[in-house]
Amino acid sequence: MKEQGKIWMNGKLVPFKNAKVHVLTHALHYSTAVFEGIRCYKTTKGPAIFRLPEHVDRLFKSAKMYSMNIPYSRKDIADGIIKTVQSSGLKECYIRPIAYYSYGVLGLTPTPNKVDVAIACWEWNVGESSAGKVRGARCKVSSWLRIDSRSQPMQAKAASNYANAALARVEALKDGYDEAIMLNYHGKVSEGSAENIFTVNKGEIATPPLNAGILDGITRDSTIKIARSEGISVVEREIDRDELYISDEVFMTGTAAEIKSVTEIDNVPVGDGKPGEVTRKLQSLFYDVSRGRDERFSEWLVPI
Ligand SMILES: Cc1ncc(COP(=O)(O)O)c(C=O)c1O
Repeated sequence: MKEQGKIWMNGKLVPFKNAKVHVLTHALHYSTAVFEGIRCYKTTKGPAIFRLPEHVDRLFKSAKMYSMNIPYSRKDIADGIIKTVQSSGLKECYIRPIAYYSYGVLGLTPTPNKVDVAIACWEWNVGESSAGKVRGARCKVSSWLRIDSRSQPMQAKAASNYANAALARVEALKDGYDEAIMLNYHGKVSEGSAENIFTVNKGEIATPPLNAGILDGITRDSTIKIARSEGISVVEREIDRDELYISDEVFMTGTAAEIKSVTEIDNVPVGDGKPGEVTRKLQSLFYDVSRGRDERFSEWLVPI
């Protein structure tokens, strides 16, 4: 990671290399952190942050589900995000706000500790999300089941949800795939390790509902709205593993991945094994929307 600009820590911009936490920080030991992943894009009107209020809102909802009180307002955090990006001088970047229980009392109970907030941004390494954009991703249905809301609130973007996702991601990579697809405890498709998932059949798009134990993805929501604006039908319904293999197209969405095509699952080609027409159309529409080239969705971009 190239260190560029400053990191916002509890209201102050500090040099990148000074943004440190104590080794006995509660969140480091017990995963007591909630965070966001946001993108700033180079748009026709200059750098702009994609769906900033929605991301800030999700951060606060994630904290609420864990009874964590973020000691700042939504406006403080949104302003902090903008200042952090401005300090970096970057026109395009990935932004990571995180709220976490900090250092002081180290036992399971997090609440005696202060909640600290940090916001960092860095240049996005396109390589990380490129698999699937051009040739299509090869995915493995994971042997790890996605945890569900009986154990942890899955609509919280909480650090603790990612141990399960990382197991699936590492397993898929070790087995030579690009990404994992996780089933839930009911055997239904839930999501990728860091993306939501969609199938396309006869021009109709389907995606698992929120109660499949998925994150309420902001790219998922954007994709549904963009598709519907083009007259493409989108339904939220349970998806069986079988359907993945016989769908015309499968794609994934996420802030990092944007919209990526899935062309192979467990060594079975999806459709003809090439990125499908609907996926390519949505990729191109999403590209235009996020780069400020589609006036219909210009309110999704907050200029910095
Ligand atoms: C588990 C999981 N699902 C879905 C997503 C996609 O969400 P979004 O589009 O808001 O980035 C992410 C991305 O962070 C994720 O980690």
